[in-house]
Amino acid sequence: MSEERPASERHVPVLRDRCVNLLAPALEAAAAATGRAVVVDATLGMGGHSEAMLERFPNLHLIGLDRDTQALRLAGERLAPWNDRIDLVHAVYDEIADVVTDLGFDSIDGVLFDLGVSSLQLDERGRGFAYSYDAPLDMRMDTSRGATAADVVNTYDEAELASVIRRWGEEKFARRIAAAIVAARDEEPFSTTGRLVEVIRTAVPAAAARTGGHPAKRTFQALRIEVNEELDVLERAIPAALSVLGVGGRAVVMSYHSLEDKIVKSVFAAESSSSAPKGFPVELEEHKPRFRRLTKGTETPTAEEIAENPRAASARLRAVERIRTSRDGARS
Ligand SMILES: C[S@@+](CC[C@H](N)C(=O)[O-])C[C@H]1O[C@@H](n2cnc3c(N)ncnc32)[C@H](O)[C@@H]1O
Repeated sequence: MSEERPASERHVPVLRDRCVNLLAPALEAAAAATGRAVVVDATLGMGGHSEAMLERFPNLHLIGLDRDTQALRLAGERLAPWNDRIDLVHAVYDEIADVVTDLGFDSIDGVLFDLGVSSLQLDERGRGFAYSYDAPLDMRMDTSRGATAADVVNTYDEAELASVIRRWGEEKFARRIAAAIVAARDEEPFSTTGRLVEVIRTAVPAAAARTGGHPAKRTFQALRIEVNEELDVLERAIPAALSVLGVGGRAVVMSYHSLEDKIVKSVFAAESSSSAPKGFPVELEEHKPRFRRLTKGTETPTAEEIAENPRAASARLRAVERIRTSRDGARS
Protein backbone atom coordinates (compact mmCIF):
# COMPACT_ATOMS: atom_id res chain seq x y z
CA MET A 1 0.00 0.00 0.00
CA SER A 2 1.31 3.44 -0.85
CA GLU A 3 2.38 5.75 1.94
CA GLU A 4 1.16 8.66 -0.14
CA ARG A 5 -2.50 8.18 0.74
CA PRO A 6 -3.47 10.64 3.47
CA ALA A 7 -4.09 9.16 6.92
CA SER A 8 -7.75 10.15 6.86
CA GLU A 9 -8.36 7.80 3.92
CA ARG A 10 -6.54 4.85 5.41
CA HIS A 11 -8.44 4.24 8.57
CA VAL A 12 -11.86 4.31 10.21
CA PRO A 13 -11.57 5.08 13.95
CA VAL A 14 -13.27 2.43 16.07
CA LEU A 15 -16.23 3.61 18.21
CA ARG A 16 -15.21 7.16 17.39
CA ASP A 17 -18.42 8.92 18.41
CA ARG A 18 -18.83 6.88 21.58
CA CYS A 19 -15.26 7.71 22.67
CA VAL A 20 -15.75 11.41 22.03
CA ASN A 21 -19.15 11.44 23.79
CA LEU A 22 -17.70 9.69 26.83
CA LEU A 23 -14.88 12.24 27.09
CA ALA A 24 -17.14 15.23 26.34
CA PRO A 25 -18.46 16.04 29.85
CA ALA A 26 -14.91 16.13 31.26
CA LEU A 27 -13.50 18.21 28.41
CA GLU A 28 -16.43 20.63 28.34
CA ALA A 29 -16.38 21.13 32.12
CA ALA A 30 -12.63 21.83 32.13
CA ALA A 31 -12.94 24.26 29.23
CA ALA A 32 -15.83 26.07 30.98
CA ALA A 33 -13.87 26.32 34.24
CA THR A 34 -10.41 27.25 32.96
CA GLY A 35 -10.83 28.18 29.31
CA ARG A 36 -8.97 25.08 28.18
CA ALA A 37 -9.18 21.28 28.39
CA VAL A 38 -6.23 18.91 27.97
CA VAL A 39 -6.57 15.41 26.56
CA VAL A 40 -3.98 12.74 25.85
CA ASP A 41 -4.50 10.42 22.90
CA ALA A 42 -2.10 7.74 24.12
CA THR A 43 -2.33 5.78 20.83
CA LEU A 44 -2.38 8.46 18.19
CA GLY A 45 -2.12 6.05 15.23
CA MET A 46 -3.42 7.83 12.17
CA GLY A 47 -5.06 10.51 14.29
CA GLY A 48 -8.68 9.58 13.61
CA HIS A 49 -9.89 9.91 17.19
CA SER A 50 -7.70 12.98 17.72
CA GLU A 51 -9.15 14.67 14.67
CA ALA A 52 -12.70 14.05 15.92
CA MET A 53 -11.84 15.56 19.33
CA LEU A 54 -10.08 18.61 17.89
CA GLU A 55 -13.01 19.23 15.55
CA ARG A 56 -15.61 18.99 18.29
CA PHE A 57 -13.89 20.87 21.17
CA PRO A 58 -12.54 24.29 20.15
CA ASN A 59 -10.75 24.86 23.48
CA LEU A 60 -9.02 21.50 23.53
CA HIS A 61 -5.26 21.02 23.72
CA LEU A 62 -4.33 17.54 22.55
CA ILE A 63 -1.19 15.59 23.41
CA GLY A 64 -0.74 12.65 21.02
CA LEU A 65 1.64 9.78 21.77
CA ASP A 66 2.83 6.99 19.53
CA ARG A 67 5.88 4.74 19.57
CA ASP A 68 5.68 4.46 15.77
CA THR A 69 7.41 7.35 13.99
CA GLN A 70 5.57 6.66 10.72
CA ALA A 71 2.22 7.00 12.52
CA LEU A 72 3.35 10.27 14.11
CA ARG A 73 4.34 11.66 10.75
CA LEU A 74 1.06 10.72 9.03
CA ALA A 75 -1.06 11.88 11.98
CA GLY A 76 0.94 15.13 12.01
CA GLU A 77 -0.11 15.78 8.41
CA ARG A 78 -3.75 15.00 9.17
CA LEU A 79 -3.82 17.21 12.28
CA ALA A 80 -1.86 20.10 10.73
CA PRO A 81 -4.94 22.40 10.72
CA TRP A 82 -4.80 22.33 14.53
CA ASN A 83 -1.02 22.74 14.88
CA ASP A 84 -1.31 25.41 17.56
CA ARG A 85 -3.40 23.08 19.76
CA ILE A 86 -1.39 19.85 19.57
CA ASP A 87 1.82 18.31 20.87
CA LEU A 88 2.74 15.04 19.15
CA VAL A 89 5.36 13.04 21.02
CA HIS A 90 7.35 9.93 20.13
CA ALA A 91 6.92 7.93 23.34
CA VAL A 92 5.82 4.61 24.74
CA TYR A 93 2.54 5.21 26.54
CA ASP A 94 3.78 4.12 29.96
CA GLU A 95 5.79 7.38 29.83
CA ILE A 96 2.54 9.39 29.84
CA ALA A 97 3.02 11.06 33.24
CA ASP A 98 6.52 12.29 32.32
CA VAL A 99 5.35 13.54 28.93
CA VAL A 100 2.48 15.50 30.52
CA THR A 101 4.77 17.04 33.14
CA ASP A 102 7.55 17.81 30.64
CA LEU A 103 5.04 19.69 28.49
CA GLY A 104 4.20 21.85 31.51
CA PHE A 105 0.76 20.47 32.46
CA ASP A 106 -0.15 19.60 36.07
CA SER A 107 -2.94 17.25 35.13
CA ILE A 108 -5.15 16.23 32.21
CA ASP A 109 -8.92 16.11 31.69
CA GLY A 110 -9.15 13.06 29.47
CA VAL A 111 -7.15 10.16 28.11
CA LEU A 112 -7.89 7.72 25.33
CA PHE A 113 -6.21 4.38 24.62
CA ASP A 114 -7.09 2.57 21.38
CA LEU A 115 -4.82 -0.41 21.91
CA GLY A 116 -2.98 -2.71 19.57
CA VAL A 117 -1.76 -2.30 16.04
CA SER A 118 -3.12 0.21 13.55
CA SER A 119 -4.49 -0.45 10.08
CA LEU A 120 -1.38 1.32 8.84
CA GLN A 121 0.89 -1.19 10.55
CA LEU A 122 -1.17 -4.18 9.38
CA ASP A 123 -1.47 -2.92 5.81
CA GLU A 124 2.13 -1.81 5.40
CA ARG A 125 3.48 -5.12 4.12
CA GLY A 126 7.10 -4.45 4.92
CA ARG A 127 6.40 -4.18 8.67
CA GLY A 128 5.82 -7.93 9.02
CA PHE A 129 2.71 -7.78 11.26
CA ALA A 130 0.41 -9.63 8.88
CA TYR A 131 0.45 -13.37 8.23
CA SER A 132 -1.24 -12.78 4.91
CA TYR A 133 1.76 -11.16 3.18
CA ASP A 134 5.31 -12.39 2.84
CA ALA A 135 7.54 -9.75 4.41
CA PRO A 136 10.60 -9.34 6.66
CA LEU A 137 9.80 -10.81 10.08
CA ASP A 138 9.93 -7.56 12.06
CA MET A 139 6.71 -6.58 13.98
CA ARG A 140 8.32 -3.71 15.93
CA MET A 141 5.98 -0.75 16.34
CA ASP A 142 9.06 1.38 16.94
CA THR A 143 11.43 0.34 14.18
CA SER A 144 14.21 2.51 15.61
CA ARG A 145 15.07 0.10 18.42
CA GLY A 146 14.64 -3.32 20.00
CA ALA A 147 14.54 -6.96 18.94
CA THR A 148 12.47 -8.07 15.94
CA ALA A 149 10.16 -11.07 15.65
CA ALA A 150 12.97 -12.78 13.68
CA ASP A 151 15.27 -12.29 16.69
CA VAL A 152 12.63 -13.92 18.92
CA VAL A 153 12.02 -16.99 16.75
CA ASN A 154 15.73 -17.45 15.99
CA THR A 155 17.12 -17.06 19.53
CA TYR A 156 14.55 -18.07 22.19
CA ASP A 157 14.93 -21.64 23.37
CA GLU A 158 12.10 -24.05 22.65
CA ALA A 159 10.50 -23.80 26.10
CA GLU A 160 10.57 -19.98 26.04
CA LEU A 161 9.04 -19.94 22.59
CA ALA A 162 6.29 -22.34 23.61
CA SER A 163 5.56 -20.22 26.66
CA VAL A 164 5.31 -16.99 24.63
CA ILE A 165 3.04 -18.62 22.06
CA ARG A 166 0.81 -20.20 24.71
CA ARG A 167 0.56 -17.17 27.02
CA TRP A 168 0.30 -14.29 24.56
CA GLY A 169 -1.37 -16.22 21.75
CA GLU A 170 -3.53 -18.50 23.92
CA GLU A 171 -2.52 -21.14 21.35
CA LYS A 172 -3.19 -24.71 22.40
CA PHE A 173 -0.67 -26.12 19.92
CA ALA A 174 2.12 -23.89 21.28
CA ARG A 175 4.51 -26.74 22.06
CA ARG A 176 4.14 -28.30 18.62
CA ILE A 177 4.63 -24.93 16.94
CA ALA A 178 7.70 -24.12 19.06
CA ALA A 179 9.23 -27.52 18.25
CA ALA A 180 8.60 -27.01 14.52
CA ILE A 181 10.16 -23.53 14.64
CA VAL A 182 13.28 -24.82 16.37
CA ALA A 183 13.66 -27.70 13.88
CA ALA A 184 13.23 -25.33 10.91
CA ARG A 185 15.62 -22.67 12.19
CA ASP A 186 18.33 -25.31 12.72
CA GLU A 187 18.27 -25.70 8.95
CA GLU A 188 18.10 -21.99 8.24
CA PRO A 189 17.26 -19.00 10.48
CA PHE A 190 13.91 -17.29 9.86
CA SER A 191 13.89 -13.97 8.07
CA THR A 192 10.38 -13.74 6.55
CA THR A 193 6.76 -14.07 7.66
CA GLY A 194 5.95 -16.41 4.75
CA ARG A 195 8.31 -19.16 5.87
CA LEU A 196 7.07 -18.87 9.46
CA VAL A 197 3.45 -19.22 8.31
CA GLU A 198 4.38 -22.39 6.38
CA VAL A 199 6.13 -23.92 9.39
CA ILE A 200 3.17 -23.12 11.66
CA ARG A 201 0.77 -24.59 9.11
CA THR A 202 2.64 -27.89 9.12
CA ALA A 203 2.77 -27.97 12.94
CA VAL A 204 -0.97 -27.50 13.52
CA PRO A 205 -3.14 -30.60 13.06
CA ALA A 206 -5.08 -30.39 9.79
CA ALA A 207 -8.49 -30.69 11.48
CA ALA A 208 -7.74 -27.75 13.80
CA ALA A 209 -6.36 -25.68 10.93
CA ARG A 210 -9.67 -26.13 9.10
CA THR A 211 -11.83 -24.92 11.99
CA GLY A 212 -9.77 -22.60 14.18
CA GLY A 213 -9.28 -19.56 11.90
CA HIS A 214 -5.93 -18.91 10.24
CA PRO A 215 -3.40 -21.29 11.86
CA ALA A 216 -0.78 -18.52 12.24
CA LYS A 217 -3.13 -15.94 13.76
CA ARG A 218 -2.46 -16.70 17.43
CA THR A 219 1.30 -17.18 17.00
CA PHE A 220 1.56 -13.85 15.18
CA GLN A 221 -0.38 -12.13 17.96
CA ALA A 222 1.95 -13.73 20.51
CA LEU A 223 5.11 -12.62 18.72
CA ARG A 224 3.79 -9.08 18.30
CA ILE A 225 2.99 -8.84 22.02
CA GLU A 226 6.42 -10.23 22.93
CA VAL A 227 8.37 -7.99 20.53
CA ASN A 228 6.61 -4.85 21.74
CA GLU A 229 6.29 -5.97 25.39
CA GLU A 230 2.68 -4.89 25.01
CA LEU A 231 1.16 -6.31 28.17
CA ASP A 232 3.98 -5.27 30.54
CA VAL A 233 3.79 -1.74 29.16
CA LEU A 234 -0.01 -1.68 29.45
CA GLU A 235 0.13 -2.82 33.08
CA ARG A 236 2.25 0.22 33.87
CA ALA A 237 0.46 2.61 31.53
CA ILE A 238 -3.13 2.42 32.81
CA PRO A 239 -2.23 3.33 36.44
CA ALA A 240 0.16 6.02 35.13
CA ALA A 241 -2.62 7.53 32.99
CA LEU A 242 -5.10 7.50 35.88
CA SER A 243 -2.50 9.19 38.09
CA VAL A 244 -2.38 12.30 35.87
CA LEU A 245 -6.17 12.67 35.49
CA GLY A 246 -7.59 15.57 37.46
CA VAL A 247 -10.88 15.27 39.38
CA GLY A 248 -13.70 15.01 36.85
CA GLY A 249 -11.23 13.68 34.25
CA ARG A 250 -12.18 10.63 32.21
CA ALA A 251 -10.27 7.65 30.79
CA VAL A 252 -11.54 5.58 27.85
CA VAL A 253 -9.78 2.37 26.83
CA MET A 254 -10.47 0.09 23.87
CA SER A 255 -8.93 -3.39 23.97
CA TYR A 256 -8.83 -5.92 21.17
CA HIS A 257 -8.11 -9.19 22.96
CA SER A 258 -8.88 -10.71 26.32
CA LEU A 259 -5.35 -10.33 27.74
CA GLU A 260 -5.47 -6.55 27.26
CA ASP A 261 -9.02 -6.27 28.55
CA LYS A 262 -8.15 -8.29 31.66
CA ILE A 263 -5.49 -5.74 32.62
CA VAL A 264 -7.79 -2.77 32.03
CA LYS A 265 -10.67 -4.41 33.87
CA SER A 266 -8.55 -5.21 36.90
CA VAL A 267 -7.06 -1.69 37.27
CA PHE A 268 -10.47 -0.05 36.76
CA ALA A 269 -12.11 -2.44 39.25
CA ALA A 270 -9.46 -1.78 41.91
CA GLU A 271 -9.66 1.99 41.43
CA SER A 272 -13.42 2.14 41.54
CA SER A 273 -13.88 0.00 44.65
CA SER A 274 -13.45 0.88 48.29
CA SER A 275 -10.09 -0.18 49.70
CA ALA A 276 -11.47 -0.45 53.25
CA PRO A 277 -10.47 -3.74 54.88
CA LYS A 278 -13.36 -6.24 55.05
CA GLY A 279 -15.49 -5.72 58.13
CA PHE A 280 -14.23 -2.16 58.71
CA PRO A 281 -17.19 -0.40 60.42
CA VAL A 282 -16.90 2.94 58.58
CA GLU A 283 -15.37 3.83 55.25
CA LEU A 284 -12.57 6.33 55.89
CA GLU A 285 -11.96 9.05 53.33
CA GLU A 286 -8.67 7.40 52.31
CA HIS A 287 -10.47 4.14 51.51
CA LYS A 288 -13.11 5.67 49.29
CA PRO A 289 -12.71 4.87 45.58
CA ARG A 290 -11.04 7.55 43.50
CA PHE A 291 -12.82 6.56 40.29
CA ARG A 292 -16.29 5.55 39.19
CA ARG A 293 -17.09 3.31 36.25
CA LEU A 294 -18.83 4.90 33.29
CA THR A 295 -19.47 1.64 31.45
CA LYS A 296 -21.23 -1.45 32.73
CA GLY A 297 -18.91 -4.30 31.77
CA THR A 298 -17.65 -3.62 28.27
CA GLU A 299 -19.27 -1.84 25.34
CA THR A 300 -18.86 -3.18 21.82
CA PRO A 301 -19.38 -1.77 18.33
CA THR A 302 -22.72 -2.28 16.60
CA ALA A 303 -23.15 -4.91 13.88
CA GLU A 304 -23.40 -2.01 11.44
CA GLU A 305 -19.99 -0.61 12.44
CA ILE A 306 -18.42 -4.07 12.25
CA ALA A 307 -19.85 -4.58 8.77
CA GLU A 308 -18.22 -1.32 7.68
CA ASN A 309 -14.97 -1.89 9.56
CA PRO A 310 -14.26 -5.58 10.28
CA ARG A 311 -11.28 -4.65 12.49
CA ALA A 312 -13.75 -3.20 15.00
CA ALA A 313 -15.18 -6.68 15.63
CA SER A 314 -13.08 -7.51 18.68
CA ALA A 315 -13.15 -4.03 20.30
CA ARG A 316 -14.15 -3.85 23.97
CA LEU A 317 -14.54 -0.40 25.52
CA ARG A 318 -14.30 0.53 29.22
CA ALA A 319 -14.33 3.99 30.79
CA VAL A 320 -13.91 5.57 34.24
CA GLU A 321 -14.11 9.04 35.77
CA ARG A 322 -11.96 10.45 38.54
CA ILE A 323 -14.17 11.46 41.49
CA ARG A 324 -11.60 12.42 44.14
CA THR A 325 -7.90 13.03 44.70
CA SER A 326 -5.94 11.09 47.25
CA ARG A 327 -6.52 12.22 50.84
CA ASP A 328 -3.18 13.98 50.92
CA GLY A 329 -4.11 15.86 47.77
CA ALA A 330 -1.58 13.98 45.64
CA ARG A 331 -2.73 13.20 42.11
CA SER A 332 -2.38 9.48 42.42
C1 LIG B 1 -5.21 1.02 16.96
S1 LIG B 1 -3.99 2.20 16.61
C2 LIG B 1 -4.73 3.73 17.05
C3 LIG B 1 -5.59 4.32 15.97
C4 LIG B 1 -6.07 5.72 16.30
N1 LIG B 1 -7.00 5.73 17.40
C5 LIG B 1 -6.68 6.39 15.09
O1 LIG B 1 -7.84 6.84 15.16
O2 LIG B 1 -6.00 6.49 14.08
C6 LIG B 1 -2.83 1.98 17.88
C7 LIG B 1 -1.61 2.87 17.81
O3 LIG B 1 -0.99 2.84 19.09
C8 LIG B 1 0.39 2.73 18.94
N2 LIG B 1 0.88 2.05 20.12
C9 LIG B 1 0.68 0.77 20.46
N3 LIG B 1 1.30 0.50 21.61
C10 LIG B 1 1.89 1.65 22.01
C11 LIG B 1 2.66 2.00 23.14
N4 LIG B 1 2.96 1.10 24.07
N5 LIG B 1 3.09 3.28 23.25
C12 LIG B 1 2.78 4.19 22.30
N6 LIG B 1 2.07 3.91 21.20
C13 LIG B 1 1.63 2.65 21.06
C14 LIG B 1 0.61 1.94 17.68
O4 LIG B 1 1.88 2.25 17.12
C15 LIG B 1 -0.56 2.42 16.81
O5 LIG B 1 -0.17 3.48 15.99
